[in-house]
Amino acid sequence: MIVVPGPASQILGVKVARLLNSEIAAVSFKNFPDGETYVRVEEELKDKDVLLIQSTYKPQDEKLIQLFLLIDAIKQMNPKKLRLVIPYFAYARQDKQFKKGEPLSIKVIEQIIEKLGVDELYTIDIHEPKVLNYLKIKAKDLTAMTLFGEYFKNKKISNPIVIAPDDGAIHRAETVAKILDSEYVSFDKFRDKDTGEITMDYKKLDVKDRDVVIVDDIISTGGTMIKAIQMIKKQGGGNVYVAATHTILIGEAKSKILAAGAAEIIGTDTIPSETSILSVAPLIAEQFKGF
Ligand code: R5P
Repeated sequence: MIVVPGPASQILGVKVARLLNSEIAAVSFKNFPDGETYVRVEEELKDKDVLLIQSTYKPQDEKLIQLFLLIDAIKQMNPKKLRLVIPYFAYARQDKQFKKGEPLSIKVIEQIIEKLGVDELYTIDIHEPKVLNYLKIKAKDLTAMTLFGEYFKNKKISNPIVIAPDDGAIHRAETVAKILDSEYVSFDKFRDKDTGEITMDYKKLDVKDRDVVIVDDIISTGGTMIKAIQMIKKQGGGNVYVAATHTILIGEAKSKILAAGAAEIIGTDTIPSETSILSVAPLIAEQFKGF
């Protein structure tokens, strides 16, 4: 197997290649003076088992164009197989038509990827795994929740409880709680479709002086996490740890979450940032051992 680390996942790609003990194909990239994207794969990939890794965080559209162009560049070399890992899959939250006249964005992007000739697609903690069913090719959602579980187990937090900020994240909380051998619950969150404002129903919790772990797929504006922290703190919760696979953390989100009372924000390197405490490289490498 030869790993092609896309422009958005250069370090992650190298980490995966090292764990797999595999070759790396360098990619050069730049923008033309008018802003258009240029990419070039510097290695011959004919008849090779190729693993392309390219995340699609901000600016998402540029990362997606880089991805589409890279797929084409690779396919033109006739590899034996092209497997693609998109650690953070942009547009996954537009997984349905919320209002008449809107596109089904995630399906559009998946169809482009499939049409370009990718053989298998892997992602990590996609917002709604069911969207992968739009694809005819093999597609799999991996989870970083096991990494969070191990992280908090090693941290030896006190009498923990794991909380999902909404019902959609309950399976994530369950995975972490199983590793911690702790209980888990979810809040009931609502987001106004027009303003984006978040409300959370009050839920009585047994959190007094206990350490609390809130888990989610994404932290974007931080609104969801802040509401959850406030509810926990109001009821006497101890240390509150905030963990999400994709820490987008727009604008002041990080400082607002800490100001709300979070002890720590733990993210992964699907989106490289100062909150990328854990690496998803072992998770990805595990999938492709022996190829
Ligand atoms: C939505 O349901 C997701 O799972 C996250 O809870 C959401 O994207 C977080 O967004 P924000 O940080 O803007 O509240």
